[in-house]
Amino acid sequence: MTTVTQPGAAGPAPDAGAGPDDAFLSVRDLYVRFGTEDGVVKAVDGLSFDLARGRTLGIVGESGSGKSVTNLTVLGLHDPRNTEVKGEILLDGQELTGAGERALERLRGNKMAMIFQDSLTALSPYYTVGRQIAEPFRKHTGASRRDARLRAIEMLEKVGIPNASLRVDDYPHQFSGGMRQRAMIAMALVCDPELLIADEPTTALDVTVQAQILDLIKDLQQQTGSAIILITHDLGVVANTADDLLVMYAGRVIERGTVREVLRAPQHPYTWGLLGSMPRLASNVAEPLTPIPGAPPSLLAPPPGCPFHPRCGFSGDVPGDRCRTERPELPAGRGAACHLTAEQKRTTFTEQIKPRLG
Ligand SMILES: Nc1ncnc2c1ncn2[C@@H]1O[C@H](COP(=O)(O)OP(=O)(O)OP(=O)(O)O)[C@@H](O)[C@H]1O
Ligand SMILES: [Mg+2]
Repeated sequence: MTTVTQPGAAGPAPDAGAGPDDAFLSVRDLYVRFGTEDGVVKAVDGLSFDLARGRTLGIVGESGSGKSVTNLTVLGLHDPRNTEVKGEILLDGQELTGAGERALERLRGNKMAMIFQDSLTALSPYYTVGRQIAEPFRKHTGASRRDARLRAIEMLEKVGIPNASLRVDDYPHQFSGGMRQRAMIAMALVCDPELLIADEPTTALDVTVQAQILDLIKDLQQQTGSAIILITHDLGVVANTADDLLVMYAGRVIERGTVREVLRAPQHPYTWGLLGSMPRLASNVAEPLTPIPGAPPSLLAPPPGCPFHPRCGFSGDVPGDRCRTERPELPAGRGAACHLTAEQKRTTFTEQIKPRLG
């Protein structure tokens, strides 16, 4: 996955994602907070986005920026005992934040499914891999045991497990890490979900299998018009697979646009840092990556103003104390939550950042 095609070139009009009217998934002002011994962790802090059917939304951001928590919350997979969720999550018009566990369970696996970041926790050690793929299929389609087993074998073949008709009866511990990851992908895709959330679906896999899995996800989308959220650290994967992109920092979206817009003319200093710190696009140059200086803020007490200001090399270009005191808003559609002027964002990127990215 190193060659970059024109992102979104063949896709629908280059707007910054779906508007609320044609959204299949619509998230509005989402806040997720965890009560812990140390205090309240503000993991998601006022997040909104829309996703239409047939489109793929990429989400990038450093570790701890809230990517997984956001998406686990969409599926209703948070622990209600220590988690406070505020805001709206509309899936095909149905409000999910207030939905009961029964309703969510019906939707999970069928209408929405997730490929989890950690394949070990997602598979039960006590049941065969085949059964774990076949059961949700049986449950949601009413297929016979025999047909569900055949479907499980077919899915294992699709994700590239050799001798699928034999391996279907293995337990997860008999699979290698990469095979477990693929089995989990088979489990997520078995019911042709209308919303597929893929959380780092290919990180544990080698390049050939990565490409195969991404093709499989794209096939699903072409056949069923599903909406896809793809969380990844790999900008090559984003460029090849996603239409729109959210850049997350400290539980917020700090930049949004089509993949093409964000990769060609990123506006937020954090996005500039990410581009320099992530594996290069279409590059086999062994150029050292430059990490963003400093560390993400504590979510127990995020800094006031712009959460990125303590690490930002450009806050001196903003007059007064605004970066430290005033929270920059994310504009609707294409844009970045940053106090630099549009002109400053453009010239700083083209004159200072782009030459360094090569
Ligand atoms: N159950 C929990 N209780 C307390 N804090 C939590 C809980 N789950 C997640 N967090 C915190 O919420 C923040 C966001 O975590 P999240 O897993 O969404 O990050 P991420 O962007 O997916 O990171 P990564 O790239 O490492 O997967 C982190 O600071 C994490 O420690
Ligand atoms: Mg995560």
